[in-house]
Amino acid sequence: MLIAVTGASGRTGNHVVTELLQAGHTVRAVVRSEEKGAPLRARGAEVVLSDLTTDDPSAWLAGCDGLVHTAAASDPRPGASDAVDRVATLALVAAAGAVGVPRVVQVSSMYADRPDEGPEFLRDVLRAKAVSDAALAGSGLVWTIVRPGGLLDDQATGQVAAGRQLGSGRISRADVAAVCVACLAVPATERLAFDLTSGGQSISDALAGLAG
Ligand SMILES: NC(=O)c1ccc[n+]([C@@H]2O[C@H](COP(=O)([O-])OP(=O)(O)OC[C@H]3O[C@@H](n4cnc5c(N)ncnc54)[C@H](OP(=O)(O)O)[C@@H]3O)[C@@H](O)[C@H]2O)c1
Repeated sequence: MLIAVTGASGRTGNHVVTELLQAGHTVRAVVRSEEKGAPLRARGAEVVLSDLTTDDPSAWLAGCDGLVHTAAASDPRPGASDAVDRVATLALVAAAGAVGVPRVVQVSSMYADRPDEGPEFLRDVLRAKAVSDAALAGSGLVWTIVRPGGLLDDQATGQVAAGRQLGSGRISRADVAAVCVACLAVPATERLAFDLTSGGQSISDALAGLAG
């Protein structure tokens, strides 16, 4: 399948690209500069240059069998999160709908479903993601929203906890990426949003346990 990955130059997105290539997919890696695209192209990904805040994603979404959206504001300045996590993500979801991308997995954040209960310093980000998550859930697309706890650069463990609302926890970006890629092939995760942390279940068991 041809799968587009936003934030492919980022830490989670990079792991998503690796997982997809290993699984035999064709990867359309969406990045903001040729410099960041070159290493991904060298690994076998197609590279598309696109800034989500300024460019129309319709052309590179066309023909994709799936989209894994991991991009998020890396800029700490006020308004950056709103621009990427809300405004650009709303445009991305709308374009995916217009083009008819069959499957969308969006990386959100724990507490995006209840921003006012999340850590105070993260509330602007959480509110932006809440709007985008609601838009995706109401889009008519076949979606999954993954809400990880605090991200770590540790190695993958393959052992996670997934649930409609987990209280707290952390997880490696590598494990988040593996879960995102697994969701593409697990119908039980369609139209489902869930929290994700490290834990004691294999990814397949954790995802199967979400159904019902
Ligand atoms: N940090 C945490 O503890 C935490 C917790 C829960 C959820 N999350 C979420 O998990 C996801 C992955 O986080 P991460 O820390 O692995 O990401 P990251 O390493 O910060 O990477 C962010 C990616 O988004 C891209 N990006 C930023 N603005 C963009 C724009 N305008 N157009 C196109 N691409 C853009 C960046 O591109 P450049 O390389 O060009 O900058 C980069 O590839 C994000 O959605 C994040 O909000 C994070």
